[in-house]
Amino acid sequence: MNYDNILSENKDGICYITINRPKQLNALNGATIADLNKAIIIAEKDKLVRCIILTGADTKAFVAGADIKEFAKFTVSQGENLAKQGQELLFDLLENADTPSIAAINGFALGGGLELAMACHIRIASDNAKMGLPEVSLGVIPGYGGTQRLASLVGKGKAMEMITTATMLSAVEAKEWGLVNHVCTQEELIPMAEKVASKIKRNSPMAIAKAIKSVNAGFTDGLNGFEVEISEFGSCFETSEFVEGTTAFMEKRKANF
Ligand code: CAA
Repeated sequence: MNYDNILSENKDGICYITINRPKQLNALNGATIADLNKAIIIAEKDKLVRCIILTGADTKAFVAGADIKEFAKFTVSQGENLAKQGQELLFDLLENADTPSIAAINGFALGGGLELAMACHIRIASDNAKMGLPEVSLGVIPGYGGTQRLASLVGKGKAMEMITTATMLSAVEAKEWGLVNHVCTQEELIPMAEKVASKIKRNSPMAIAKAIKSVNAGFTDGLNGFEVEISEFGSCFETSEFVEGTTAFMEKRKANF
């Protein structure tokens, strides 16, 4: 499938999605969100895809935010719709996908860009990356889930500081704050994401999907994470992947999922 604003390629069980508007620092306009929505839905349906790696084209930016030029003249209802549609089409879709995603943060991840990375299940940053939610400097607030996901990742106090001061964290600071899992050089970024993906690929996709659902349930209003875990745990039993995993253990061989 060809897209105007992203590149998408499947290789060895990994779907590589690259946001490809480098002249605009990969800013997320409506068309890019629509392309990402399509690519993620296609990856989710493809049983051969076991992990998604999301990155930005070129070396300067992962994504420098929502496209400011596109929304600068929006009305109140257009603004509300921008946040609602974006959250539904992309950020919630990615976070609740069965397929685990890794954000390979190769430069600026600001505003909607950091929000996109935070909607991924795992974050790895190159040492030139800068991360922040600078929206209040524009007279607006994070609208793609940033106020919620940042607080759940780094804690309320640190999220309040990052959002109200609109400051950027370096990759090393982001790791210290728990915002990213690993930091490496730009050259090592995709290989490191592939290394994490290769560990994911050894495991049961069915169990991974249920684990994602259970972890997310603890951060979802109206759901009890422990109850969801009990039910998802039970639903693993009798599945072919459970039989394969437990049989392989007893036969002292690697499971083949
Ligand atoms: N939207 C639209 N265009 C953007 C953009 C954005 N978020 N970020 C960068 N660009 C464009 C610039 O306008 C410029 O385009 P032109 O050459 O056509 O003028 C091009 O990308 C290169 O950017 P700069 O010249 O600004 O590059 P720089 O090296 O001087 O600065 C930067 C880099 C610090 C990242 C700076 O571009 C910047 O501050 N960008 C905006 C960051 C931001 O505020 N993001 C939050 C957006 S709001 C949001 O995301 C809301 C939400 O939650 C839904």
